[in-house]
Amino acid sequence: MNIAEILKERQKWFEWKNIKPIKEKLDNFQVNSADYKLNDTIEITTNDNLTPQIKELALMLKPWRKGPFKINDLFIDSEWRSYIKWNSLKPHLNLENKDVLDVGCNNGYYMFRMLEMNPKSITGFDPSALFNLQFDFINKFIKSDIDYKLLGVEHIPYYEKKFDVIFCMGVLYHRRDPIDMLKELKAGLNKGGEVILDTLIIEGNDDVALCPVRYAKMKNVYFIPTVKALYNWIEKAKFSDIQFIGKRYTTTNEQRKTDWIDGESLESFLNKDQTKTIEGYEPPLRCYLKLKY
Ligand SMILES: C[S@@+](CC[C@H](N)C(=O)[O-])C[C@H]1O[C@@H](n2cnc3c(N)ncnc32)[C@H](O)[C@@H]1O
Repeated sequence: MNIAEILKERQKWFEWKNIKPIKEKLDNFQVNSADYKLNDTIEITTNDNLTPQIKELALMLKPWRKGPFKINDLFIDSEWRSYIKWNSLKPHLNLENKDVLDVGCNNGYYMFRMLEMNPKSITGFDPSALFNLQFDFINKFIKSDIDYKLLGVEHIPYYEKKFDVIFCMGVLYHRRDPIDMLKELKAGLNKGGEVILDTLIIEGNDDVALCPVRYAKMKNVYFIPTVKALYNWIEKAKFSDIQFIGKRYTTTNEQRKTDWIDGESLESFLNKDQTKTIEGYEPPLRCYLKLKY
C-alpha cells in the first residue's frame, strides 16, 4: 500500500462540491494571534477582528460532533460533551515525550486536550474531509504541530512511523473485521507501546457478539461483543496484556441534539424510558481498555 499515493489521491476530496467552498474560505482565513485554554470547553480568545468570519465558518463546518469549543463569544455546543470521556481516561494516561496517534480522531478535540500532557508528537488519522477542516479551523487559532492525515485504521501497518500510544475510540464496532483491526493497531505500536481502546460492549458472561442490521439507527455497526468475547479478539490479535479501565453507559447528558448538528441524536435512538435502543437492544454501553504490545 502506497500511503503517499493514497494521501495525494485524497487531497481531491477537498474538491467535492460540499467541501470546496469551506476549504476555500478556510484557506483565506488568517488568525494572527489567539490565546487558548484546554479546559473541558476548549476556549479560544482572539483580538483579531474576525467575529463575522468565525461564525460563518463555524456554521459552514456543521455538524460538530465532538467538542465543545468556545471562540470569543461563540459557543460551539457539539453533539457530544467529549470531556466526559476524556476526564474518565485522563488519570490512566502518560503521554510525556511519547509519539501518539489518535485513529478516528474526528475534529481533534482529544488531540488538543493531549497537548497539555507534553507528548513528543501527535498524529491524527480520520478519513473525513469535513472533520479535517474542522480541525484546521480550530488549529488556525491554536497553531499546534498536530499532524492530521486523511487516513484510516487500515493504513496503520503501512504508515512510515510507529507510535508509543495509539488511541482508538469509537471505531472498532464500525469495522467488519474487528480482529484484523486490532492486529492493525498492534502493527502501529513501538515495542512496549499501548493502545487505549474505547468500544461498545453488551452485558453478559458468554463469549458472544451482537451482529445487528441497525443499532441505535446506525447501519454501520457490525459487532458488539461481551467483554469476554472482546478479550478473545484481543488475545487473537496477540496483545501481551489487557488492563480494564472501566465501562459506562452513554447518557443524554453526554450525547444529545444541539443546534450544532442538523440530524437526530441519542434521545431519538432510544425508547421512551431510555432502557433500550429503538431496535430493542441494550442501550449503548462502552468499555475502556489499555492493551499492551
Ligand atoms: C464514533 S466516531 C468516534 C470519534 C472519536 N474517536 C471519539 O471517540 O469521540 C468515529 C470516527 O471514526 C472515523 N472513521 C471512519 N472510518 C474510519 C476508518 N476507516 N479508520 C479510522 N477512523 C474512521 C469517523 O470519521 C469518525 O470521526
